[in-house]
Amino acid sequence: MDTFVIEGGARLSGRLQVDGSKNAALPLMAASLLADEELVLRNIPDLSDVRSMKALLGQLGVDQVEAQDGSWKTQVGDPTLCHAQYDVVSTMRASICVLGPLVARRHYARVSMPGGCAFGHRPIDLHLRGLEALGARIRLENGDIIAEADRLKGGTIFMGGPFGSTVTGTANIMSAAVLAEGTTVIESAACEPEIVDLANLLKAMGANIEGAGSPRLVIEGVDSLSGADHSVMPDRIVAGTWAVAAAATNGEIVLDRFPWDSLLAMVDVLKQVGVRVERLDDGPECAREATVRITSERHLRPAVITTQPHPGFPTDLQAQFMTLLCLAEGNSVITEKIYPERFMHVAELARMGGLFTRQGPTVVVQGVKSLIGAPVMASDLRASACLVIAGLAAQGTTTINRVYHLDRGYVRMEERLAQLGASIRRVSNTPASSAAKTNDSAPEIEILTPPTSSAKLVKSDR
Ligand code: EPU
Repeated sequence: MDTFVIEGGARLSGRLQVDGSKNAALPLMAASLLADEELVLRNIPDLSDVRSMKALLGQLGVDQVEAQDGSWKTQVGDPTLCHAQYDVVSTMRASICVLGPLVARRHYARVSMPGGCAFGHRPIDLHLRGLEALGARIRLENGDIIAEADRLKGGTIFMGGPFGSTVTGTANIMSAAVLAEGTTVIESAACEPEIVDLANLLKAMGANIEGAGSPRLVIEGVDSLSGADHSVMPDRIVAGTWAVAAAATNGEIVLDRFPWDSLLAMVDVLKQVGVRVERLDDGPECAREATVRITSERHLRPAVITTQPHPGFPTDLQAQFMTLLCLAEGNSVITEKIYPERFMHVAELARMGGLFTRQGPTVVVQGVKSLIGAPVMASDLRASACLVIAGLAAQGTTTINRVYHLDRGYVRMEERLAQLGASIRRVSNTPASSAAKTNDSAPEIEILTPPTSSAKLVKSDR
């Protein structure tokens, strides 16, 4: 397993383009199951989760060609393959995104049940209830979900759960309803920009969808969908991570393809804490993409952050902001409303000198003068990102183990940061011949032994 070694203290400066969004790309790729014609997706990020989705779609009979320009072309070769097997599903929870398209198009799906999660229980009950409301018959067999239907029938579905709407659940049901007979209303749909991106692709394939980006989706089913050519939206969490890294290092960076309209809640917090965020383009106020300069003089003010479904502050940036608020002058309060247990990074940041008091889903962050480099362990994708930012801002050397978590969601993160002037290098702890394989096949569910007990913990992310 690879490790990052970071010498803290360098001020980030330079220019980066934000890569395509992982969480948009995965359900978009699953939509390739819905049509017989060629689908072209552009701006797909080169990430291990994307490679896992390619492997899964290969198992499901989707032929794939990667073109010179980085675009990804697919066409269904064998529509009889309907089993999403445990070996791939266990590496990535988002594999569940194939369930809706499979049952809608092939009338049968067998998808291994996704497993546990590093930051709490992540059920899929809303996905299954939604498909049942469309007429699918669902049962569990040998750890696999089996969903069957003749043609799905439109229905009214409430997708709100105790922690808000479900993002991949909305993607799944929307992708199934586009081929159902009649009208489907998804009430309390997720409003995340990745859902809008998926709706845009499905519409380009011939689907009738109204209301994408609002809590009510109205879908008029069609008999079949055609191919399409679509560019994946830029990754709002990657953009946010770069912005926080610049802020924490007293830096000044310019980000191209910054998904401005999707990040207003984050931009608002950055401004509150004293980070300068300037638009350098002359696009409209609500531009989907912008060129943005982030500048910080690191006299940071504390903030109160509560994670919420979009357009609220995203849970996927909570950990990164916790690092930033460690460096603020005063006490900040962070409340996690989407995943109340998503605080694996707190103990690691404490090893670097962070001061925290946690009560349930709320953490009080006491600002410190500086963080101090230390060996730390990454536990999930965003927790790892927060440790990288901490390492960049800290005095001394930080080593971060289990870097494969980062390879799931950030394209060659160390190269991007080095390009901005960071002192960061990847050290491979596996023989060169097997290193790539290790990164690609690292399980999302990993077994860790806690230091205080011989019992085993089951961990995964996303
Ligand atoms: N929930 C239910 N029942 C369900 C589904 C979800 O109760 O059937 C609950 C969850 O337990 C959670 C809340 O609803 O408390 C939201 O979960 P959601 O289903 O929206 O999460 P997801 O779709 O599995 C996506 C992203 C996550 C991101 C969340 C929230 C992908 C592939 N993953 O997960 O991204 O945190 O939405 O915005 O799109 C990441 O990128 O690091 C990541 C974890």
